Amino acid sequence: MEQYVINGGTPLVGEVEIGGAKNAALPILAASIMTDETVHIDNVPDVRDVNVLLTAMSHIGSLIKHDGRHRVTMNSSNIRNMVVEDENIKKIRASYYLIGAMLGKYKHAEVTLPGGCDIGCRAIDQHIKGFRALGAEVSLSHGMIRTRAEKLVGSHIYMDVVSVGATINIMMAASMAEGKTIIENAAKEPHVVDVANFLNSCGANIKGAGTDVIRIKGVSVLHGTDYTIIPDQIEAGTYMFAAAVTKGDVTVKNVIPKHLESISAKLMEIGCEVKEEDDCVRVVCSGPLKHSHVKTLPYPGFPTDMQPQITVALGLSGGTSIVTESIFENRFKYVDELTRMGANIKVEGNTAIIDGVHKYTGAGISAPDLRAGAALVLAALAAEGESHLDNIAYIQRGYEDFHIKLAGLGAQIKIVEGEQDYSKFKLMTG
Ligand code: EPZ
Repeated sequence: MEQYVINGGTPLVGEVEIGGAKNAALPILAASIMTDETVHIDNVPDVRDVNVLLTAMSHIGSLIKHDGRHRVTMNSSNIRNMVVEDENIKKIRASYYLIGAMLGKYKHAEVTLPGGCDIGCRAIDQHIKGFRALGAEVSLSHGMIRTRAEKLVGSHIYMDVVSVGATINIMMAASMAEGKTIIENAAKEPHVVDVANFLNSCGANIKGAGTDVIRIKGVSVLHGTDYTIIPDQIEAGTYMFAAAVTKGDVTVKNVIPKHLESISAKLMEIGCEVKEEDDCVRVVCSGPLKHSHVKTLPYPGFPTDMQPQITVALGLSGGTSIVTESIFENRFKYVDELTRMGANIKVEGNTAIIDGVHKYTGAGISAPDLRAGAALVLAALAAEGESHLDNIAYIQRGYEDFHIKLAGLGAQIKIVEGEQDYSKFKLMTG
């Protein structure tokens, strides 16, 4: 089995290019089936979740061509099969975006229920509430969600919880409903805005994305487009924290600094220097890290997808910090692994109480999910000695070339599978 071997203790220094946002790419690719015309999408990250979705879409009839590593051309005029039960699709959460897209275009969708990272209960009641409000019948059975409508009719929908997935899914279906839809208490994440911009570039009429009220006037047809996906806020944030925990100096390039504000603010609060330019952010950490309190919140709050990374940093700070996870109830599973590296963290319910330590030490550890896996890599990069991280497939779901980009910043990290690879790593690291 593949694992990362990491020799920690080297400050990361240099520049790293950030790719397209996974959590924008997934709904945008799914939404591409809503037009019979050809769609070109640029800045598509080459990560597992995206590739699983593309494969499932090709199985129901989308013609998909890669023009280079990050540009995808799709034509979905030949979709006849409304049933998505690809073996792998249930492993990714974003399978549910095919429901909103197919329901909007074809008024019929049957999709295997979503899986994804095991970070707590991941209900889809708000998606279902929205589809029903638009006039669709929805049922769940045998692991599938089935939905059908004679026609979709715009509606006034109040979301009981702020949900990225439900906001996007309802927005997609409502784009091709008759009349007006208003989504209240909508999610405001940059990827919600990106999906709205993509759909508008196909002829949809969506206003207010990025605020908590989204207004949609349905259209009967969407057309082709050429669209570029926004940079990945969480990938960028992860490298920014890599600079912090290794006492490095890293410039993340090709980002939208506005999307990184909550991350930059926390880094400054804990003692890092953060310099923003038009499309890059430089993080320099030359002194000790300071403690802080953090609560994850929907955008523009501090992202839940950055919670493990900031916990790793606070674990190395002076004093006591408190991290409260308010989005998912099971997102501290990595703390046991971090404890094995020397961290002093106690989890009580949705709160982690962190007493900072001077250093982590390398250990054999295992990634419990995508972001926690990336955070454990950061811990290993900061640690004294060697770490071996298992279950790296989780990380490959959402980070393109993670170890290669880190190595480009001076990290001693390699994917190894067996003794021979390991010997090469030992030669490389002396
Ligand atoms: C998206 O998940 C992301 N996934 C997650 O990223 C991210 O952590 C999350 O948004 C929050 O930002 C994708 O985009 C594929 P939600 P999603 O619906 O849409 C509750 C990563 O690491 N809820 O905003 O599933 C839910 O239980 C992943 O890249 C309901 O109660 O998240 C949670 O507590 C992990 N009913 C909260 O809302 C619903 O119908 C937010 O979930 C839907 C959600």
